[in-house]
Amino acid sequence: MKFFIDTANLDQIREAQDMGILDGVTTNPSLMAKEGITGRNNILKHYVDICNIVDGDVSAEVIATDFDGMVKEGEELAELHDQIVVKIPMIKEGVKAIKYFADRGIRTNCTLVFSVGQALLAAKAGATYVSPFIGRLDDISTDGLELIADIRLVYDNYGFETEILAASIRHTMHVVNCAKIGADVMTGPLSSIEGLLKHPLTDSGLKQFLADHKKGN
Ligand code: E4P
Repeated sequence: MKFFIDTANLDQIREAQDMGILDGVTTNPSLMAKEGITGRNNILKHYVDICNIVDGDVSAEVIATDFDGMVKEGEELAELHDQIVVKIPMIKEGVKAIKYFADRGIRTNCTLVFSVGQALLAAKAGATYVSPFIGRLDDISTDGLELIADIRLVYDNYGFETEILAASIRHTMHVVNCAKIGADVMTGPLSSIEGLLKHPLTDSGLKQFLADHKKGN
């Protein structure tokens, strides 16, 4: 399972990268705005800064919602760095743009996916990644993990190579459960990754080992 961090915060990206377990980064316009990154040039520079920290794919989202606009923006993003994956929303024009990019060897991440049907379309168009938002489904009393399992089944039925990128992860158990179901990738906040470290028996066991070592020396 690949681990992506879902943030535009450079310190948090560095922290995850330093652990040696990071495979990539996802961003979106809200995450960029949260870090105060505004204006086209600053946004493009920030994507390059992220690429220079992480060894892996960096999703950069288009703002346009029409085919020509998405193609223009996506090509500009893809030219920034070979780690960039163009993030495209799941709308009809987006499906056309994913197909356009797939035909030209430009990798895409189809975002804002909330149903199996949408995931099927993304795979048919040749998306590199599909991003089902599990936390946002959970927020409206719909089982986000069930969507991941259903997409896994459909993709396996037909051998689609599109990778399932479980997004909108809110906590550590989302990560663990996505791994059980067979999501190819998870993207979440640093806290969801660091939560995997925690177990009280690890803490008490280590405390005891260190105390016993001290007694014997
Ligand atoms: C995915 O790529 C999105 O950036 C993200 O996971 C959305 O998460 P949220 O629902 O916590 O905003």
